[in-house]
Amino acid sequence: MGYAGSVAVAAASASSLWRLCSGAQRFPFGYVRSASIRFYSTGMTYENINHATIDRIIRVDHAGEYGANRIYAGQMAVLGRTSVGPLIQKMWDQEKDHLKKFNELMITFRVRPTILMPLWNIMGFVLGAGTAMLGKEGAMACTVAVEESIAHHYNNQIRTLMEEDPEKYEELLQIIKKIRDEELEHHDTGLDHDAELAPAYIILKNAIQVGCKAAIYLSERI
Ligand SMILES: [Fe+2]
Ligand SMILES: [Fe+2]
Repeated sequence: MGYAGSVAVAAASASSLWRLCSGAQRFPFGYVRSASIRFYSTGMTYENINHATIDRIIRVDHAGEYGANRIYAGQMAVLGRTSVGPLIQKMWDQEKDHLKKFNELMITFRVRPTILMPLWNIMGFVLGAGTAMLGKEGAMACTVAVEESIAHHYNNQIRTLMEEDPEKYEELLQIIKKIRDEELEHHDTGLDHDAELAPAYIILKNAIQVGCKAAIYLSERI
């Protein structure tokens, strides 16, 4: 069996092991669907990674992308049928891809989700819908605030992985950089669509970013 085969088997058995231990039929909220990430060209395997670092990175990123999906779901619930509906949908679609990627990484590297997922489910939706009720500008201000925090967070992770072992973590670095760039595009989209005209923009943005920091801190740890 080739390397890719071994990884697939390892991922599959990790998934079965989870079900066996937890008695769960499936991950709650359908987090995990398939294990299709293969790390061919670099030395990143389940056996040789720094588990403390990689667990923390994958868990918090998975939580963040899940939260982002809930934010855009909340925005769509309020603004889906307005002129910015298609724009928000487009960003949401990219968030779905981001989440899918971290779902796959979770299986490959046997990382459990944060126990706070049910909280991010509700908080994300409330944040998205609540800011969207301030109008299109409020939704865009929320996007600017969140995406700026997330891009900053991804840059910190990129720095950590570069310091640790840029060669071993090459493919993970590429994944994070690509997603980081898309978050920055979302940030710019928000600014291009009048985020700064939202009521109390600076206060709103700061408050959301304090929340993001707290969510990141907690999701890395529990
Ligand atoms: Fe994202
Ligand atoms: Fe995003």
